[in-house]
Amino acid sequence: MTLPEITIRSATEDDAAAIRTLVETSFGTRYDPPELERVPRLFPQEQAIVAVERGRLVGHVQSTTMTVTVPGERTVEVCGIAGVGVAPTHRRRGILRAMYTEQHRRIEAAGLPLTMFTASEGGIYGRFGYGPATRENAVGIDRRFAEFLPCVPNPGGVTLCEPSEARAAAEAIYDRWRRVIPGAQVRPAANWDILFDDPQRFRHGGSDLFALLHADGYALYRFHRHDRLTAAEVVEMRTVTGEAHAALWRTLLGLDLVQRVEAVLTDHDPLPYLLTNPRLVRTTARYDGLWLRLMNLPVALSARSYAGELDVVLAVSDPFRDVGGRFALRVRDGQALCEPTTRAADIELGIDVLGSMYLGAVPARVFAAANRLRVKNSARLHAMDDAFRAERDAVLGWFF
Ligand SMILES: CC(C)(COP(=O)(O)OP(=O)(O)OC[C@H]1O[C@@H](n2cnc3c(N)ncnc32)[C@H](O)[C@@H]1OP(=O)(O)O)[C@@H](O)C(=O)NCCC(=O)NCCS
Repeated sequence: MTLPEITIRSATEDDAAAIRTLVETSFGTRYDPPELERVPRLFPQEQAIVAVERGRLVGHVQSTTMTVTVPGERTVEVCGIAGVGVAPTHRRRGILRAMYTEQHRRIEAAGLPLTMFTASEGGIYGRFGYGPATRENAVGIDRRFAEFLPCVPNPGGVTLCEPSEARAAAEAIYDRWRRVIPGAQVRPAANWDILFDDPQRFRHGGSDLFALLHADGYALYRFHRHDRLTAAEVVEMRTVTGEAHAALWRTLLGLDLVQRVEAVLTDHDPLPYLLTNPRLVRTTARYDGLWLRLMNLPVALSARSYAGELDVVLAVSDPFRDVGGRFALRVRDGQALCEPTTRAADIELGIDVLGSMYLGAVPARVFAAANRLRVKNSARLHAMDDAFRAERDAVLGWFF
C-alpha cells in the first residue's frame, strides 16, 4: 500500500509531547511523572521512528538493543521493540506496516540477529514473522487450604524488608537468574527505577509494594482488598535455587488474613507439586509474554545451543522480509552450524514458527499437528523436538 501523505522518519526531541499523547492514547493510560524521565533512558528517543501527516504525528515505534539469554546460558544482542501506536484517526491504512518496514530495515542494517517485543493483541504480528516465544500462567491459590508435603524443604532464611532495602539484593539475584533463563534480558537501571517507583497505574487499586528477601531469591507483592477478603498479588518473584523457591512460597502461602495469592508461573514451575493438593494452584489465564523473530537465520540458529544432534534442511518462508530460504542445520555436541543450501528440504515452516520454537517454548510436533511445520520423516520431527528443547522454561525477564 502507498501512503502519499505519510512521511516515515526518525523522531526528534521536538516530537516528545506528540509521542506522549499518541502513546498514552494508544494504550489508554497516563504515565506517572517519574516514568516520563525513565522511559527515554530505556528507549532512546532519537532511535524511535514516527509517521507524520502534514506535520502531525500519527504513528510511533521505539526500540533499543537488549542482551538476552538463549538456551545454553548464552547471550545475544537483540532489538527490543516497544511503544507501537498508530492514531485511532489513522488506523488500518498501512501505517504500522510502513513503520515496521523501516524499523526492520534498520535492524537488519545494524546486524542484530533477533527482534522481540510483547504484543497487545495476538492476531497482529504473525504476518511480520513473529511467534509467541514464552508462555505464562496466571494462577490463584486459596492459601487457607494450602499445606506443604512433608518432603518439601523448610529452609527459612526469608526476611521482611522495605522494597527500597531489598533493591540492591534483588538486582544482584535477578542478574544471577537472567544468566540461565532463556528469554530473560539484562535489566537497565531505568527499568529498576520504574519497578521501585511503583507507579499508581501499575497498582490497579492495590497497595504499594511489599518485599520478601532470601539469599537466593526475592518476591515483590501487593495487597488487594475486595470487601473484607484480601488477595496478595505477586508482582515479581525470581529465585535461583529450589530452597529459595520453597522458602518464599512458604512465606507467601503463610500470609494469614489473605484468602488468595495470585502469581504468574511458567509451565514447569514446581509450586503445585510442593502442596498436598496440587489442584489448589488454579490457572485463571494463560498467555504469551515475549514474541520473537529471527532476522538472520544462520547467526540466530548458531547463537543458541541444542539438546540433541540434528542434521536437517529447513525451508523457511518469510513473506515480510524475505530472509527465508533453505538452510542446512547441523548440530554436534550442542553446537549448531547453519548455512544456506540448495539441498532438498526435510522440513518446511514459517519464520514465525521458528520464532516460537527458538527459546524452546513450543515443540516442533505441536506445529506439525497444526500443519504449520511439514515434515515427511517422523524421525526428523523427533530429532527437532529433542534438539530445540531448552533446559529451563523461557521467561520474559522484564516487561517492555
Ligand atoms: C495495532 C496498531 C499499531 C495497528 O496499526 P495500523 O496502522 O492500523 O496497522 P496497519 O494498517 O499497518 O496493519 C498492518 C497489518 O496488520 C493487520 N492488523 C492491524 N491491526 C490489527 C489487529 N488489531 N488485529 C489483527 N490484525 C491487525 C492489518 O490488517 C494489516 O494486515 P495486512 O498488511 O497483512 O493486510 C494500531 O491499531 C494501534 O495503535 N492499536 C492500539 C495500540 C496497540 O495495540 N499497539 C500495539 C502494541 S504491540
